[in-house]
Amino acid sequence: MKNVLVTGGAGYVGCLLVPQLLKLGHNVTVFDTFWYERHLPPHPNMTFVEGDIRETAKLARAFKGIDAVIALACISNDASFELDEKLSTSVNMDAFEPMVTAARKAGVRRFIYASSSSVYGVSDQPNVTEEHPLVPLTLYNKYKGLCEPILFKHQSPEFVCVTIRPATVCGYSPRTRMDLSVNILTNHAVTNRKITVFGGAQLRPNLHIQDMCDLYELLLKVPDDKVAGQTFNAGYQNMSIMDIANIVKRVVEQEFPEKAPIEVVTTPSNDPRSYHINSDKIARVLGFRAKYTIEDAVRGLCQAFKAGLLPDSMTDDIYYNVRRMKRLGVR
Ligand SMILES: NC(=O)c1ccc[n+]([C@@H]2O[C@H](COP(=O)([O-])OP(=O)(O)OC[C@H]3O[C@@H](n4cnc5c(N)ncnc54)[C@H](O)[C@@H]3O)[C@@H](O)[C@H]2O)c1
Repeated sequence: MKNVLVTGGAGYVGCLLVPQLLKLGHNVTVFDTFWYERHLPPHPNMTFVEGDIRETAKLARAFKGIDAVIALACISNDASFELDEKLSTSVNMDAFEPMVTAARKAGVRRFIYASSSSVYGVSDQPNVTEEHPLVPLTLYNKYKGLCEPILFKHQSPEFVCVTIRPATVCGYSPRTRMDLSVNILTNHAVTNRKITVFGGAQLRPNLHIQDMCDLYELLLKVPDDKVAGQTFNAGYQNMSIMDIANIVKRVVEQEFPEKAPIEVVTTPSNDPRSYHINSDKIARVLGFRAKYTIEDAVRGLCQAFKAGLLPDSMTDDIYYNVRRMKRLGVR
């Protein structure tokens, strides 16, 4: 899998993943609209293609000579999806099968699709495994789930398809998103010394961004028969939002001992999403076990704040998908 193309490679996950793959000796093509700019440092083995995954002909050209695709590009959360459902449907749903077909026709050998553990919606089962029915609560979740069988229609020994359902990612990246739960709470704790918890009892699965990248690295390496046609949950700590808030409070107070204690305020929430995912299959089949905790993610963010790597973290729209897409007038 020498030549890898990452759609959405300039996003939150991509900005950490792409340098990691380059370091391992891969040639990496980043196919992205670059809505969140280019935070990737130049590298002789990295190629940028500015394009939209809806431009199938352009994608098809970029897929020539590529061994593996990691498909990250999409309108990547509920709130940004809802900004313009027509646009989001065209990117997250309509463009998907033409992209997969173009990859297969170009001779790509492995296609790795980033779905989401939010496809499960609400479940009070203690352990949501990959067989659990999908109960999508939003169109974002629904399309993530609907793309999975579309991908698997194309599975063959020559075109190995695998789906990952990651938990909510946390931690620092050169393009940090501040619209994801652990990151939001940390940003508020560091900047305002106050965290507001909406609800608090909802369970959320989490995954450190470094574990997310290590998993994509592993998915490029494992033999075909381990991943062909497979779907894997990928999460580490399942935790209530209130427990996450308490970790954030503790770590941020330790990291900034000279500053005032952090106040935690609770308000009612109308967000019903709550699920507890089980990631035993990925450990059993691929030997993947997440190594980094929520605490590590919060500490990493604190260090980035101290190093001045997250300037204007409340106001600059680079950290916020919805605000950014609105300002750019993305269509
Ligand atoms: N971050 C998470 O917590 C999380 C959790 C589960 C699943 N995922 C999935 O992982 C993937 C990456 O997430 P992320 O947090 O890095 O997202 P992100 O929003 O930071 O990055 C998405 C990237 O895709 C690009 N993009 C968007 N639409 C495009 C299009 N039509 N054509 C080409 N490029 C386009 C954007 O410019 C951006 O660089 C997404 O598919 C997301 O749904 C993320």
